[in-house]
Order: sequence, then structure tokens, then C-alpha cells
Amino acid sequence: MTKTHHLLILPGDGIGPEVMAQARRVIDWFAKNRGMSFELSEGLVGGAAIDAEGAAISPDTLARAAAADAVLFGSVGGPKWDQLGFDNRPEIAILELRKQLGLFANLRPATVLDPLVDASTLKPEVVRGLDIMIVRESTGGIYFGEPRGVETLPGGGKRGVNTEVYTTAEIERVARVGFELARKRKNHLCSVEKANVMESGLLWRQTVTALGAAEYPDVALSHMYADNCAMQLVRNPRQFDVIVTSNLFGDLLSDLASMLTGSLGMLPSATLGEIGADGRRPALYEPIHGSAPDIAGQGIANPLAQILSLAMLLRYSLNRDAEADMLEAACVAVLATGLRTADLAAPGQAKATTAQIGDAVLAALDRAHG
Ligand code: IPM
Ligand code: MG
Repeated sequence: MTKTHHLLILPGDGIGPEVMAQARRVIDWFAKNRGMSFELSEGLVGGAAIDAEGAAISPDTLARAAAADAVLFGSVGGPKWDQLGFDNRPEIAILELRKQLGLFANLRPATVLDPLVDASTLKPEVVRGLDIMIVRESTGGIYFGEPRGVETLPGGGKRGVNTEVYTTAEIERVARVGFELARKRKNHLCSVEKANVMESGLLWRQTVTALGAAEYPDVALSHMYADNCAMQLVRNPRQFDVIVTSNLFGDLLSDLASMLTGSLGMLPSATLGEIGADGRRPALYEPIHGSAPDIAGQGIANPLAQILSLAMLLRYSLNRDAEADMLEAACVAVLATGLRTADLAAPGQAKATTAQIGDAVLAALDRAHG
């Protein structure tokens, strides 16, 4: 019997629903042509959920996310909700999903696809063939550490506090994800922290070193301070294979790495939790780009990051490597034909719409499928 995959689709705000519509067409294609069976349900997140349900993500949506085989997420936020208080922002949806589902390992690839080598602001000879995977810890560190808050000082003025905190268990489990990925790639893991100024960074370095020696002696492990890593990513990005780092450093370094590719609209991500006793692993897949309110509703957004997020879902949640490879190849084939949405088009070049890219991906899949 074919296994039915339960997916929760959370399109969100801005261009989220537009690019998600194309990803849904691709899901339908795999159901029809590759003998796969999906049960899809949809929910509101972000500003759309604040407007309709009073919170960026409702308890019901969170429960459905936890029960799903995987969550495919669009993007959240927009000017309409910018004035809301700190505790009621669209971004809470993604932070809550990470925390409540225990999605501690955020995989952020930065890959330069050959047809897009000129989209980077860096020289082609520096970025050609670039293929980095950043593993960002995503349920700990300064994003969630206590104490936190703003207090009023007796003599007037205020004091804002956030706390960077990591335990050995938290460091080990995310480092394991990094080591495992390295084994499947070029076998090099670079662990990034500020062990020169932060105690939590020193613990990070010692913990990763010990884990590497005990369980992954075959993986080449190196260490780098986060500031140096930022510099090295621009100077010579191809020295990296897999990078593992904390929540905050990963947030910064993954934005930096994504821009090496020059095409934010192309980059997917996965956020994985712990494998449970039943063998299930909570997981969420989302494009790196945001909700792009400036172009929302026009049907011109690039849907490829959302579609490539679906490819990561096929690979990491459904173990369908062949289908994931096929979908990634279809996206590259579309770009190789010269078709470009506005974010990638050369000056004066005709710009493809969101739906045209979706059409082209389906056509490329049809060709590959024969
Ligand atoms: C990201 C985003 C989020 C983060 C925001 C939206 C909370 O920047 O996913 O990188 O800082 O983690
Ligand atoms: Mg970020």
C-alpha cells in the first residue's frame, strides 16, 4: 500500500500564498506521476492569522503542525502588522513552531547554480560551484535564553537583557546533525563560535571537539571564530562544506551566505527536530526569502525557493531522494532556458511571472519523467 504523507501547508503573508500555489502544483504532479499519496491541510500563520484568529499561530494550527509528517511554510509579515507589540508579531509564528515542535536544526544551504553564477555580487571565479550547508541551532541560545526583558532602573533609564545559553546536550545534538551531513557531502565540518570572548562559545568548542573525537573521527573538523567566518565567507567561500553554529551567529552568517549566491529568491531551508520513539521527525520547510510585501499580489514573485523547499521536504522527511534530485534538476533546467522572474532578470530582459515558472517546472518534470 502507498504510504500517505500528511503535509500541513502554511502559506502566510505577502508573496507566501502566491509561491505556495506553485509548490502545490508540484505536489500534485508527484502524486499523479510518481505514485505518491499526500493528504494536505492548510492553516493560517503570521499577519493573516493575527487578523483572522487573534494570534500569529493558533494552538490548533500548532497541534496540526506537530501531528503532520512535515510542514511546508511560506513567509510571514508585512507593513500592516509592523506597529503591533513585541509579543504579537507575525514572526512569532515561526519562533513558536521552532520552539513547540523542537525544531533545533535549521539547515540553510547556499548553493550557486551554474545558470545563476553571474547573479552574485562576487566574482564568478569566487562563487562558481559554491555549495555550503549552514546548520544553525534554532531553539536555544540568545533567542530563548533567560533572563530576558527590559527593566526600569531605580535612578531612571532602563536595562535590556538577553542571555546566550547552551548546554552540552543542545550543542551535541545540533553538532551531530552537522557531522552526519558532512559525511554525506565533502566530509568537512567547521564549527563556529566566539570561544575567545564567550564562555558558552568555549563550551561549544570543547563539546564539538569531544564529540568529533568520540563519534566522528573520520570527519575533518575545524573551528572558527564567528567574525572570522563572516570574513572568510566573502573572501573564499568555497573553503566551507558544512558549518555548524549557534542561533544568532547562524542567523547572521546564513543571510551573508545566501547573498553570495546573489539570488535570495532561490534558497530553501529545512528545520528538523528530534527523531521520536515512533521514528517520526518533526520538520518544517521554508524559503529563506521573506514575504516581500512590495511585490505581493502581482504574480511576479520567484516561486523557486518555495519549490526547492519542497525538494528538501522530499529528501529529509519523506526519504525520496530520487524525487528530490529530479525536482532540483527541473529547477536548474528551467533557469538554463533563460527564464527569469524580476528578481533575477537582466536589465531589459523579459520577466517571467510566478505561474510561468511553475508551468516551466512542471514541463521540465514531464520531460524528465518521460
Ligand atoms: C530567520 C529570520 C527569523 C530569525 C525572524 C523572522 C524571527 O530572520 O529565519 O532567519 O531571526 O530567526
Ligand atoms: Mg534571519
